[in-house]
Amino acid sequence: MTTIHGIASSKDGSTLISGQFTRREAFPAPMHSSCLRLAPTPVDQWRPLPIPTDGHLELTLGDRIHGGTSGTAYLADVVSSTSTGMPPRVVVKFARQCRTLAREAWFYEQLSRESNCEGVIAPKCYGFFVGWRKDWDASQGGDQCSDFVFKPTHNAPSSESPPLWYDLADDELFNPDFWLYFCDDAGIKRESEWNTFNDDDDDGDIAAILILEVLGDFYPAPMIDEEALGDIKEIVTDLAYTGIRHYDIRHANVVRRLESSDKETSFCYRHQKVHDWRIIDFDRATRTLFTKKNPRDMQACLDQANLVGNEYFMGTLKPWVYNVQY
Ligand SMILES: Nc1ncnc2c1ncn2[C@@H]1O[C@H](COP(=O)(O)OP(=O)(O)O)[C@@H](O)[C@H]1O
Ligand SMILES: [Mg+2]
Repeated sequence: MTTIHGIASSKDGSTLISGQFTRREAFPAPMHSSCLRLAPTPVDQWRPLPIPTDGHLELTLGDRIHGGTSGTAYLADVVSSTSTGMPPRVVVKFARQCRTLAREAWFYEQLSRESNCEGVIAPKCYGFFVGWRKDWDASQGGDQCSDFVFKPTHNAPSSESPPLWYDLADDELFNPDFWLYFCDDAGIKRESEWNTFNDDDDDGDIAAILILEVLGDFYPAPMIDEEALGDIKEIVTDLAYTGIRHYDIRHANVVRRLESSDKETSFCYRHQKVHDWRIIDFDRATRTLFTKKNPRDMQACLDQANLVGNEYFMGTLKPWVYNVQY
């Protein structure tokens, strides 16, 4: 359970309201390949992690960091926590679409199961939670849900946003537009509560959050900093070895490590250094299983590193043009 103080206020701003969030399962992706011969999905690896049954985190919502296409990130102070090792501050990413954030949460879980990933090339993730605004209003003595103003606000959706892969393709075995195969042979995605979830059915009552380690500014495109771009290529290569394809590698999704981060736990054994950058925003990602039968998939994953520094990365090429060409 997570409590966020100051998540909403009374209409006149005089009373701050706290919101309760409960931990939820992440939304598994179907297995993805650019080859038709897909191996059976390794079910243990693919299932969402079990939900911890106890534990409580108490946060106070701070300033908005940035709005993106799928969510908006806020800083929050940790007031109390039953788990050890919580930092004094975290980032809370509020979903624009809960199903999308549930999918992103699954990628953070997958990274936490791999070596050399969580806290090394991507932020540490402290969980995925869901809350209902009506409940918070009732618990604070309000008569109706409309009695308070929800603090997190999103930027208007951009018409130039690239399409989400899973909305396009993840229910299909084969997507001819992109020449990609998706497979849910074990039904792990189909069985998820998120599979049929539609935010529009909910009147905006549900709020989903992902709690992440605080990182710094994103890459200052279109500046060319060879040393930084080299480091970013390395983290993208580390990601590639997990079979995860990010599909949105660009400056705004690569953020700086903070000087205060723990150097011991963030050491990359592959590159024998602490990387200066982290990859975020896995809402478009897909995951492949490398086998001897699909060498093309490993190559496609590794090729992601070549995208670092290209026009799309620098933000000078429209995303949809890039995706169709890829
Ligand atoms: N853990 C974090 N630390 C620091 N800044 C972050 C963090 N997560 C997100 N941000 C900031 O918020 C922006 C939007 O977050 P992102 O996860 O990319 O959402 P979207 O899917 O909406 O693009 C990022 O470009 C980055 O500037
Ligand atoms: Mg982003």
